[in-house]
Amino acid sequence: MKSEMNTSQTEAQVIQLFDTQSSTYTYLVYDPHSLDAVIIDPVDEQIQRDQQIIQDKGLKVRWALETHAHADHITSAGLLAEHLGLKTAAPEGCNIGTASVQLVDGQIIPFGAFALKALHTPGHTAGSMSFYLATNEGGHVFTGDTLLIRGCGRTDFQSGSAQALYHSLTQILFKLPHNTTVWPGHDYQGRTHSSIGDEIHNNVRVAGHTEAQFVAIMNKLNLPKPRRIDEAVPANLNSGLRQDAGGEVVRNDVLTIRPADGYAGDVYPELAWHWVQSGEAVLVDVRSDAERAWVGFVPEAKPLAWKQWPVVDVNPEFDAGIRAIAATGLKIVLLCRSGVRSVAAAQRATSLGIEAFNILEGFEGDPDAHAHRGKLGGWRMRGLPWRQS
Ligand SMILES: [Fe+2]
Repeated sequence: MKSEMNTSQTEAQVIQLFDTQSSTYTYLVYDPHSLDAVIIDPVDEQIQRDQQIIQDKGLKVRWALETHAHADHITSAGLLAEHLGLKTAAPEGCNIGTASVQLVDGQIIPFGAFALKALHTPGHTAGSMSFYLATNEGGHVFTGDTLLIRGCGRTDFQSGSAQALYHSLTQILFKLPHNTTVWPGHDYQGRTHSSIGDEIHNNVRVAGHTEAQFVAIMNKLNLPKPRRIDEAVPANLNSGLRQDAGGEVVRNDVLTIRPADGYAGDVYPELAWHWVQSGEAVLVDVRSDAERAWVGFVPEAKPLAWKQWPVVDVNPEFDAGIRAIAATGLKIVLLCRSGVRSVAAAQRATSLGIEAFNILEGFEGDPDAHAHRGKLGGWRMRGLPWRQS
């Protein structure tokens, strides 16, 4: 999803992009004459979309900016820096050590004839910033999770503070000109933008409330933990580039094939799904019939059990089944519950001369500390299509 704010061609232009999985807005802001640009809060799963738009528009992206260290998605800033040669910048209070510039309050971020001003707006996290662009027509402010449309970011984790957020909203953002366009970091109801004046009067969290009332509202929210926080925050402290066990920086790119022993490679569910949708691969579900019925399944997948519970031998139909599927000439991507059985199945298919890939994390991922699956990764947690029955 993409929407564009077209004011006059002498003003900076704003392109708003949306990631449906995390409901995150990413922004491209650019000078229409020089085409110099900045990208704000890019999402790693959307890197191909973003690069396509940048290429189509001929933009020269100078900066990838973070409003804070996100808990709900992983940034593509590190990868964009590699691909496009841009500079990464993040608020100094967010401990994103890989960002090439650590932004302080009031810092100017120039692009073409324009510049964003970093405003330290703590509260959602201690380091959170908003980015303000003054224009003749009212200006823009990119508020991250500090100010949302009719709401604000939570303050109950990641060094959050409801008192600090109240101050940031009422003393910093609400002091901007009332016709400033507010571009939030998220919206869960399809709203795209608002204005400072509108939020001063209609923001249900803060309008008409004292600091004490606001703090009481924030303390009573009782929100569930963001589903990707354990994965996303550590990755984002590294501009989205992950360290492996040996200390080497590895690409945190879900669209990369990882080399494997005895089969064509390991892929994340996102890449497997991308291949299936583009007609490059056939998805084969090697779980048992009972598991598929019980836990859920991917409608596009061909069922071919590796082993049928409670039988411990390999399904005698497996070889013939996988050969028949491979006769299409497409590569095979194999899905099981957590990515273990599918390795054995991929090795077996490879021994039959078939190009076979294992899908990492499987349908449900590994169990967490409470023995619950579906919380540490997998097809379902990553938001890919599936059905219960
Ligand atoms: Fe956030």
